[in-house]
Amino acid sequence: TQDVASDIEHVLLTKEDIQERIKDLAARIDADYEGRDILLVGVLKGAVMVMADLARALHSHVTMDWMAVSSYGSGTQSSGVVRILKDLDTDLMGKHVLIVEDIIDSGLTLSWLQSNLRSRGPASVEICTLLRKPEAAKVEIDVKYVGEEIPNEFVVGYGLDFAEKYRNLDFVGTLARHVYE
Ligand code: PRP
Ligand code: MN
Ligand code: MG
Repeated sequence: TQDVASDIEHVLLTKEDIQERIKDLAARIDADYEGRDILLVGVLKGAVMVMADLARALHSHVTMDWMAVSSYGSGTQSSGVVRILKDLDTDLMGKHVLIVEDIIDSGLTLSWLQSNLRSRGPASVEICTLLRKPEAAKVEIDVKYVGEEIPNEFVVGYGLDFAEKYRNLDFVGTLARHVYE
């Protein structure tokens, strides 16, 4: 049988690495918010795994809402074009909003999303991302919670896709060249 993991060249973060980063992020977030309610805003679809694990690692009261935006299409490059595919159901007025992301690559998605959400009257807007690629940044954004900085390579797994696949891996790794060449 063809195991999905056989398309991976090398593993950047194991399942255990990821769960450790999530635990550390949750501890920092709980301490910073000191019992205030948090509205977690997950960015579909990549952030579903981080959201599910982070929400369960937090001890604060949280609610969850989702936005769908897209910048990649089906390729491996950021297009810089951000489209809203699904907006929030929640009114942000007076809320402490924490945007939850799987990865910040060029930063274009988050830069746009952060200012969009800030214009809706929240008490605060911060960002939590599992992964960040500092070398790929095209815009400067202030990201309070970063799980791990990684090199500028195309990675999949734990929510991250290539043409919608590989999101279900419980680790993060680079895709073997034979898959996309
Ligand atoms: C990916 C990733 C981030 C964004 C980062 O999402 O999940 O949301 O791109 O890229 P950027 O920093 O260059 O803007 P994608 O648009 O592929 O949608 P998806 O989450 O549905 O896979
Ligand atoms: Mn995404
Ligand atoms: Mg994607």
